[in-house]
Amino acid sequence: MSRALIIYGSTTGNTESIAEEIEAVLSGAGVETVIRNAADISAAENLAEGFDAVLMGCSCWGDEEIELQEDFVPLAEKFSEMGLKGKKVAAFASGDSSYQHYCAAVDVIEAAARENGASLIAEGLRVEGAASDAPDDVRNFAQKIAEALAS
Ligand SMILES: Cc1cc2nc3c(=O)[nH]c(=O)nc-3n(C[C@H](O)[C@H](O)[C@H](O)COP(=O)(O)O)c2cc1C
Repeated sequence: MSRALIIYGSTTGNTESIAEEIEAVLSGAGVETVIRNAADISAAENLAEGFDAVLMGCSCWGDEEIELQEDFVPLAEKFSEMGLKGKKVAAFASGDSSYQHYCAAVDVIEAAARENGASLIAEGLRVEGAASDAPDDVRNFAQKIAEALAS
């Protein structure tokens, strides 16, 4: 059975809702899934160990600059220590398209995944608001990941 780790940083619960929906779809597809709030993770070392896939989601809180959600920042500073090499990775974010850097965490996570030798298995998911605002997009994203883990 494939194993997936979902890590998210979320202030008002929007990215969290996406993470939870992804977890539900993956679990339903037979993927053993662990979901963790970045706020509860103290060290990034070897986080990915034992998982086939690492799915990361984060909101942004800057204006002109990209500012990752605060709980996710310590992880982002240690991407290179997460053990992403050879792992399947996908990124997701909740955001507000009136901001200049809409869901920019997706770009940050995808760049870090490439730099650290991971393979991206789904196009990054950007959601305006919560999972319930774009249920089909979230489900399709999660299904794509489930398919990538089955192959
Ligand atoms: C001060 C401020 C800055 C924000 N900056 C961005 C941004 O740069 N890009 C974006 O897509 N959304 C931005 N947002 C919107 C939040 O990221 C959005 O509300 C998101 O759904 C919050 O997700 P969360 O509940 O998972 O933290 C900003 C919101 C505020 C209040």
